[in-house]
Amino acid sequence: MKLSFTNFLILSASCIASIANAQDKIVGGTEVNPPGRYEYQAALVDGSGSQFCGGSLIAPGYVLSAAHCAGIGSAVQIGRHDLSDSSEDFENINVVTEITHPDYNDSTLENDIMILKLESDSSAQPVEYDTGSADTSAGEDVTVMGWGTTQSGGSSSDVLLEVEVDIVSNSDCESDYGSGAITDVMMCAARDGKDSCQGDSGGPLVIVGSDAATDVQVGIVSWGNGCADPSFPGVYARVSEFTDFIECVLSGGTDECGNTGLGGGDDWWGDWDDNWGWNDDNATWGDDSWGNNTDDWDDDYGFGGGIIDVIIDLIYAIIELLSSLSRK
Ligand code: ARG
Repeated sequence: MKLSFTNFLILSASCIASIANAQDKIVGGTEVNPPGRYEYQAALVDGSGSQFCGGSLIAPGYVLSAAHCAGIGSAVQIGRHDLSDSSEDFENINVVTEITHPDYNDSTLENDIMILKLESDSSAQPVEYDTGSADTSAGEDVTVMGWGTTQSGGSSSDVLLEVEVDIVSNSDCESDYGSGAITDVMMCAARDGKDSCQGDSGGPLVIVGSDAATDVQVGIVSWGNGCADPSFPGVYARVSEFTDFIECVLSGGTDECGNTGLGGGDDWWGDWDDNWGWNDDNATWGDDSWGNNTDDWDDDYGFGGGIIDVIIDLIYAIIELLSSLSRK
């Protein structure tokens, strides 16, 4: 049978479609080859060993991830490629502390960054994180990887997938998402039919170098409206905005890290104490004891955590005790 022009068109269209399908991974990505190329890539796993988020090794004992991945996992796996292959040679390291950014906002997803302190060091090559010198201008090529879903609402991938996308300017991204949605601590990236997706969160967005040691991480997978939706880029935490937080945590800090000065607290005391390096909400002075933020006596006076606050709280407690005695 002679191939008519119409048939030729149909055949080439379906051929193109099947090629596109064969590459329908992360969203529109490909399997990382060779496996282990991004040796800093971490899988965050829950108590039963299932992967739920990504992360990246930034120092031998620390994994960078997204704050919205907090509270689920107990360990990280480094050196994984095929999650369905239990015979893989990888490190499984328990998490000692989850240090989420004190100003993480779970409704706007601002400051969606978390650092996991590991029980023991990984021997993998950590990734360099951008402190401001990387070129993140619109149009730059960046790569994101993960075991997340291969389409919005789809199923996730057993093997680590990667996809190259282009940086989108914050102003273009904001015109897609609406005024105020995209702040300086975020960045966006997109390419036709390509994106990160659910389950990739916390994983790295990198400028690819010649090997793991020369890659530079510029973003952390954070959120998006659908995946690879042409009207909505993927949104990432902008790593270079968090140099102080990262360096503070890596040098052993927890509760004082991530201080952003004025505006960091939830009241004027919060602002005032943040200027002095005391945050309102952190791991050490958490939610349920002295220095508590939300539900006990010190909060009656609007004080957050930190040593100065505790001392002020104590003075107030004594005053309260004395005045309650005098009421009797
Ligand atoms: N929030 C998702 C997660 O928890 C990541 C979504 C990324 N979306 C996107 N369109 N790039 O895994």
